[in-house]
Amino acid sequence: MKPDRERIAELRRLIRHHDRKYYIDAAPEISDYEYDMLVAELRKLEEKHPELITPDSPTQRVGGEPLEGFATVEHRLPMLSIDNTYSEDEMREFDRRVRRLLESDEVEYVVELKIDGLAVSLVYEDGLFTLGSTRGDGFRGDDVTTNLKTIKAIPLRLEPPKKGFRMPAVLEARGEVYMPIAAFEKLNKEREKEDLPLFANPRNAAAGSMKLLDPRTVAGRHLSICIYGLGYTEGLEVNTHFEALNLLRSLGLRTNPNTRLCPDIDEVMDFCNEWEEKRHSLDYHIDGMVVKVNSFEQQELLGATSKAPRWVISYKFPAEEGITKLKEIKVQVGRSGTLTPVALLEPVHLAGTTVTRATLHNADEVARKDIREGDWVAVAKAGEIIPQVLRVIKERRTGKEKPFKMPQTCPVCGEKVRRVPDEVYIKCTNPLCEAQRKQRIRHFARRDGMDIEGLGPAVIEQLVDKGLVDDFTDLYHLKLEDLVALERMGKKSSENLLGAIEKSKSRDLPEVLSAMGVEHIGTHAAEVLAEHFGSLDGLARASSEDLEKIEEIGPIMAESIAGFFHSPAGKKLLKRLKDIGVNTRSLARARPKAATPFTDKSVVVTGTLSGYSRKEAEDLVKELGGKVSSSVSARTDFLVAGDKPGSKLTKAQKLGVKIMSEEEFEKLFTSA
Ligand code: IVH
Repeated sequence: MKPDRERIAELRRLIRHHDRKYYIDAAPEISDYEYDMLVAELRKLEEKHPELITPDSPTQRVGGEPLEGFATVEHRLPMLSIDNTYSEDEMREFDRRVRRLLESDEVEYVVELKIDGLAVSLVYEDGLFTLGSTRGDGFRGDDVTTNLKTIKAIPLRLEPPKKGFRMPAVLEARGEVYMPIAAFEKLNKEREKEDLPLFANPRNAAAGSMKLLDPRTVAGRHLSICIYGLGYTEGLEVNTHFEALNLLRSLGLRTNPNTRLCPDIDEVMDFCNEWEEKRHSLDYHIDGMVVKVNSFEQQELLGATSKAPRWVISYKFPAEEGITKLKEIKVQVGRSGTLTPVALLEPVHLAGTTVTRATLHNADEVARKDIREGDWVAVAKAGEIIPQVLRVIKERRTGKEKPFKMPQTCPVCGEKVRRVPDEVYIKCTNPLCEAQRKQRIRHFARRDGMDIEGLGPAVIEQLVDKGLVDDFTDLYHLKLEDLVALERMGKKSSENLLGAIEKSKSRDLPEVLSAMGVEHIGTHAAEVLAEHFGSLDGLARASSEDLEKIEEIGPIMAESIAGFFHSPAGKKLLKRLKDIGVNTRSLARARPKAATPFTDKSVVVTGTLSGYSRKEAEDLVKELGGKVSSSVSARTDFLVAGDKPGSKLTKAQKLGVKIMSEEEFEKLFTSA
């Protein structure tokens, strides 16, 4: 057995190696499971020997307590911006100017993608990541080191590319932090469920995440980075930008593989046009290309204006936008009372879809862009996702346009509204507001909440308007005659709805909890909490300190949950749900009545199944009394293997665990 100290060093080396394979080279060598096992082993050893923990250990990415604020950092070399061009003519003009100033036609260019995120600086001293900052005003930015450390694509220590390599005393890498589109969509979906304001595009989401004070929340934002150049360095010899990119990559920093060294402007344009065509094939948003003179000597000769270097230019893609008339600005009231102005538009065709509404985000945004009812506006799909109003075509104003003012009272209940301190949004202060009540009931009934089929917006509208339902607990007291009396509700559909309401009482704990709509608690947090506490009673007893200790539960969530369950209203709601007979315990822990082939069996599901998602298959196993585990061990009874089962299959074979195909699995549970 190796001494712990050696094993710790070995584990760190292995994890660093696999991080690099996964995040930098996109060529993983081991499964996620095997990777998690290495990290778990390291954590355990570090718990045993806290004195051996170093700041660059892979376990130290998510730092301790939230910060009070960010310190200011002065950049050793200013972070300048870039001049933009919008046409091939302007690009050729740039090339002519460069050659004229250099008095040479021997100019090579490096062409890169222009990722739409935020610029950051990463300082490595003797190979160790010591300081990360935002661009700020170009001279001074914020120290966001703890936030940047949570990004796994940022190595905490640089790897010498070969034996005998002298690590530079100081190496500053500059790059763009961004949020991949999938992470952005997922984040906004979560925020929508939690009734939080949505981010307009991936860039705002990335920039907003960098401003968060709690690194745990940042870690959940799934940010990434591409390094596009050097800043201040000491002890480094490189002559060209292309060489610098290769060196940065060989040190373990993530550069963009879609980069080309071009001998002349014709090839530069070819590469730019190629990417303008296929830009939507990327999993992040780019708004153009960046073209840089390759030779550092030539860069120096060209120098900079006060604003931007003369050796670099960006070629911006035209935004995919359409022009249409804004008919009306409507104010929507969300589940927790947030007022959101929404533009109702004459239909316009954009990037393959017809757009009739666009979010205006908040009153500040409407004022900043001076958007009025009746205006002609340019709309675009921000980050190709949510339609938004880009700008007003002021030339087309007739004078009849109506300026917009955020209402001083709630447009639905008429109560006063209030501005949330330090925030841009405005909320209705009346928890009994009809709009909020309707939204809460909708949220309660949605598919991944209580899943009450047949309880759509039209029915909820009538139930609340007629005073039959004030909050979602009243649903359980509805009678057949109440429902039959509603518009467009026959006897059959009323009976079905009553059946669906009754059935919802046995939903599992995560769904019940997320349906309750506690602020900041979305589906994922609900799952984490259900798993941890096993019952609403257990959760209700927890203090905010207890909650904060749970991984993935940040201080804002903890505060919200404890605040809710300790409040008289929260206590009353919990009691009412229990009196009604709504399930308040984790079904995964309860036993089904009759024995099935899965009773007490430990089951692992791996690979892709054709008929179910992994979660659906696992839920089936749990319903039939089985236990689901994510890893194969000698205690595993069955491994259900779908397509591309990976390392779990190999491990199961080694341990002699029974392996089941999807068909066998299906047969077994249909017989149960
Ligand atoms: S070079 C002095 N390269 O674009 C040159 N910038 O509009 C410094 N950006 O602030 C920047 N991709 O945030 C460079 N491949 C790339 C880039 C890039 C995105 C951003 C960067 C910069 C902004 C300027």
